[in-house]
Amino acid sequence: NEIYLHGLEDRHPPFTTDFTALEASARERLEPGPFWYVAGAAGSGATDRANRAAFDRYRLVPRMLTGATGRSLRTTVLGGELPAPVLLAPVGVQSIVHPDGELATARAASALGLPSVLSTASSHTLEEVAEAGGDGPRWFQLYWPNDDDVCASILGRARAAGYSTLVVTLDTWTLAWRPHDLDRAYLPFIRGIGTAIAFSDPAFRAGLAKSPEEDLISAVLRWVPMFTGTDKTWDRLPFLRAHWDGPILLKGIQHADDARRAVNAGMDGIVVSNHGGRQVDGAVAALDALPAIAEAVGDRTEVLFDSGVRTGADVLKALALGAKAVLLGRPYAYGLAHGGEDGVRHVLRGLLADLEITLGLTGHRSPAELSPDDLWRER
Ligand code: FNR
Repeated sequence: NEIYLHGLEDRHPPFTTDFTALEASARERLEPGPFWYVAGAAGSGATDRANRAAFDRYRLVPRMLTGATGRSLRTTVLGGELPAPVLLAPVGVQSIVHPDGELATARAASALGLPSVLSTASSHTLEEVAEAGGDGPRWFQLYWPNDDDVCASILGRARAAGYSTLVVTLDTWTLAWRPHDLDRAYLPFIRGIGTAIAFSDPAFRAGLAKSPEEDLISAVLRWVPMFTGTDKTWDRLPFLRAHWDGPILLKGIQHADDARRAVNAGMDGIVVSNHGGRQVDGAVAALDALPAIAEAVGDRTEVLFDSGVRTGADVLKALALGAKAVLLGRPYAYGLAHGGEDGVRHVLRGLLADLEITLGLTGHRSPAELSPDDLWRER
């Protein structure tokens, strides 16, 4: 009704509802540094393009006369009910694109009851973001610090602030070769390195010669080795389990054997993801990695998915290939750039409406009904 009535009243959406146009508009609106921080990818951008191409190779096969009335997007994830199979992916230093950053994102997500996954590289402290999100579901993403005291301290704060679920990102133990950021000397990122969660942390600050306000160089010199490192292996997961009493998911899984290892390590879930093509240039498209992983783990762990989701049809394709829910990255970051909290809400409401309509038009009442039988694949 809202869509038709707004048309009658000649009321237009605040900004475009089309992803490609939204990205183009963000490019006009933002300085090149912030725009490319969001839009950019690793290396030649091959994986970023592959993520989209993989979605395009699958087509939905709509079914008729199924009586898809009374449909609902409600979905059970990790034993809890969500209003839709959609979450907001962790996106770091959001103040680069809008001063309200993660606070705006948490408010918009909370208003719709969708979990927003707060990044360790947040530009507002985890306590501030928790408060902004009110009663909404709170998830926390960990970039795993090399210092166990800092790690335990951050996890303790996240639990105390009411975050229920931990997402541990494994694919970014060093930042990738990202030409767009390199050409701009990572300037927005370094400026944004008021990654408030680390710098507000007592255990992290204890290692700072001076406060970051006094000396940004000293802060960067502490931050980089703290969050960069190759020494983590599967046998370190019990450390996280010991410091987190809620569900734990591993993000960045792209191989079925790693998914099995996650199950064997007792992880509650995985996020099949290549970080939106921002880490390994030439990596397999996330959607192409999904079917084998979903088959390998079955119901033994919760499978979430991200990288390249732009439309309701994309969500349905990922669900049909075995994901329980998807995470969105760049779409809501561009919404944030266009209008803070309202901008994020506009993007999310559009995606949910598209998803709900397309679910019905393909003949389904619930996301749980989707299966590979709903897809046709171009050879
Ligand atoms: C990210 N991503 C990310 N992931 C993470 O675990 N911690 C983080 O701090 C960030 N930061 C971040 C910043 C920006 C600007 C982007 C675009 C992405 C990756 C993110 O969680 C997710 O995996 C991808 O964004 C999904 O791909 P799409 O939807 O952007 O194609």
